[in-house]
Amino acid sequence: MKKVITYGTYDLLHQGHINLLKRAKDLGDYLMVGVTSDSFDRERGKLNVRNNVLDRIESVRKTGLADKIIIEEYVGQKIDNIQRYGIDVFAIGSDWEGKFDYLKEFCEVTYLPRTEGVSSTMLRNESQVNYKVGIIGTGRIASRFVPETIFVQGVQVYAAFNPDLEEANQFADIHGIPRSYNTFETFIKEVDAVYIASPHLTHYNYTKKCLQNGKHVLCEIPFVLSGGRARELYDLAYKNGLVLMEASKTAFCPAFNHLVTLIKSGVIGDVVDIDSSLSKLTFDESLRELDIVQAGGSITELASLPLLSVVKILGKEYKDVQFYSRLKKGVDIYTKGVIVYDNAVATIKLGLGVKTEGNLVVSGTKGYAYVPAPWWKTDYFELRFEDQNKNKKYFYSYEGEGLRYELQEFISCISNHRPSSFKLGRRESAVIADIIESYRKGNRITLIQ
Ligand code: CTP
Repeated sequence: MKKVITYGTYDLLHQGHINLLKRAKDLGDYLMVGVTSDSFDRERGKLNVRNNVLDRIESVRKTGLADKIIIEEYVGQKIDNIQRYGIDVFAIGSDWEGKFDYLKEFCEVTYLPRTEGVSSTMLRNESQVNYKVGIIGTGRIASRFVPETIFVQGVQVYAAFNPDLEEANQFADIHGIPRSYNTFETFIKEVDAVYIASPHLTHYNYTKKCLQNGKHVLCEIPFVLSGGRARELYDLAYKNGLVLMEASKTAFCPAFNHLVTLIKSGVIGDVVDIDSSLSKLTFDESLRELDIVQAGGSITELASLPLLSVVKILGKEYKDVQFYSRLKKGVDIYTKGVIVYDNAVATIKLGLGVKTEGNLVVSGTKGYAYVPAPWWKTDYFELRFEDQNKNKKYFYSYEGEGLRYELQEFISCISNHRPSSFKLGRRESAVIADIIESYRKGNRITLIQ
């Protein structure tokens, strides 16, 4: 029996795919089709794929042309598959001419004619609604965000808003944004969705006003500083049929997503302990980070991401939380938080005036996950076990500033009418705000001077 294999994403399955599968099938007696996993596509920079892997597999299955479908998950898998399944012919469209010649060592390689005039990219472009995005706040994070938007289909950064018009104009000039405003009412009418990157204490009001004006909102961390306010805003968004997402960048990155799913599937056993740390030494006392009036401090500035790791892995039902802080002029320059669950305990370590090792360690009954610093923008982690032979290393890409992933998820939620993302649920985000609020109320804080 002559076995043929071919690979692809097969997003929005089209006639080009069907022709290719037929041509590949005609080369032998048995056709195997490798469909790329969502995370593999993401890692290859294909951020805008519409259908998830299960839907894409189902479309290929429905063509009736594949005798077996497998998932392609990593670079180098083609060689493994060809050898393991005893493949005779590797076939792929002519757009890949020459790219897979290295497989000739293992089997025959054939480049098949590609169907002209159709591709998934073209179909995505044709059906993609373009959303005009407005930016509220024109500071450091907003400047990092705008360049990332070009990687996400369906986004046009259309307007910038700052109460100081000169700052809004300057920001718009630098980033080539068509409009800039200092009047909220005019600004909000011009856009479909808003990215809020203004100072923390303004998040609540801006988010509420945007939602009341019927606009989707992606709001920077910390979203709001109280769980009650977070729930109120999520309810308002839901009632108005709008997407409201906390821009907790790590929640949407490939490596972190995979880490969470691996841990949830029990590879390190029951999780008993999490140690999650983030520090960013800041000496300039004129900055918002160290300004008590602007809600500066380690908890408000830095807790969102470590708390994300705790809540994603151990859940929303914590029993108790306790803090240890060192203050400088009333601002916590270091805080350690201990979050207790029924069967586990987590610590977060946050430093604006104390440097900590910024790693994440998740300890379980069978092994532990180690994510080196800076864990919140990781492209690499390890699972480690008593028997070191079982240790495994995982590598990913983390593109640019890592902000394109959250934006892509935001746009995908809007396009697909999904009110929220499972990568950071509304209730998870509200629990993170609860813990921050508990600190701000002065609950259970021990000072270490
Ligand atoms: N293919 C083809 N003719 C087309 C489009 C794709 O023969 N018009 C082939 C590709 O060469 C590949 C397979 O179909 O062998 C799967 O390709 P895939 O990357 O999934 O499809 P594209 O439409 O090229 O997707 P994209 O636009 O996202 O790159």
